Amino acid sequence: MQRVFSGIQPSGIPQLGNYLGAIRNWVRMQADHECLWCVVDLHAITVWQDPQTLRRQTRELAAALIACGVDHRRHILFAQSRVRAHAQLAWIFNCVARLGWLNRMTQFKDKAGKDRENASAGLYVYPDLMAADILLYHATRVPVGDDQRQHLELANDIAQKFNHDYGSDFFPAIEPLILGPAARVMSLRDGTRKMSKSDPSDQSRINLADEADAIRLKIRRARTDAEPLPAEPAGLAGRAEARNLVGIYAALADLTPDAVLAEHGGKGFGAFKEALADLMVAVLAPIGAETRRLLADPGHIEAILAEGATRAAALADPILAEAERLVGFLA
Ligand code: TRP
Repeated sequence: MQRVFSGIQPSGIPQLGNYLGAIRNWVRMQADHECLWCVVDLHAITVWQDPQTLRRQTRELAAALIACGVDHRRHILFAQSRVRAHAQLAWIFNCVARLGWLNRMTQFKDKAGKDRENASAGLYVYPDLMAADILLYHATRVPVGDDQRQHLELANDIAQKFNHDYGSDFFPAIEPLILGPAARVMSLRDGTRKMSKSDPSDQSRINLADEADAIRLKIRRARTDAEPLPAEPAGLAGRAEARNLVGIYAALADLTPDAVLAEHGGKGFGAFKEALADLMVAVLAPIGAETRRLLADPGHIEAILAEGATRAAALADPILAEAERLVGFLA
């Protein structure tokens, strides 16, 4: 069975886009892989985080992941900072990666923005830590969004250079599993922008713990145009909001947009939004209820994460030890 690793930033309870774009795929991969799911708090502090908020958002994310179906018993769910080996292997990789490689990373340029001199050194070596996350477990399959493709290429470069420099074939090649744009969920207020936790308008997104009433209201208020739904996807051209709602419906129902339009084509948005809200409440209400139930007992979530860290460390420690031996540290 192939080993899978993926990481997600602790930004609290996820929104619908995270669920349809990433988390739901993680849950499905659990059927035929051995999976490690990591809340990447070391990556989070590459930009300023309020300590109380970071702690709360780590618990919230873990609770939501479990509520979505992440199986912390058969697989491993843990917080990155609690397995020391991540930081230790990342240091070795800081010494393997070349400045020239890091200088090409587009995410650093985006995140550092204009004031690059003021970005943290951690943000710069973020991809080295990400390589360590994966290679520490000899994981070979990594589901990520398209924006992480460049980081995985860098991870493969690091693995190859390590192997070459230390005359070994210790680290395996990583296969990126790029999660398709099929499940790309856009803002409910502007169909050309991604649904995002950082959008100032809560009306722009569905949060996984939203109550049924809130979900219905947000869908009813979602921006649309005045035309009825077309009978086939070609009729969605130039209609970003209509395309988004059809896409969300299709993803939630596990149908193609074709099939959704075959059923709903010709309807006005009033009727379609009603059907979409019903479907969304049916899928999300149990997840929201379970997330809230889990969060009512923070000690329980913390115990789950502590157990995950113990099991992750048991896998990571021998791999770190061998990397250290290859580097020439005293055994
Ligand atoms: N950088 C990833 C993101 O922002 C999160 C991440 C950290 C990750 N470490 C990882 C993803 C290892 C896959 C594998 O989405």
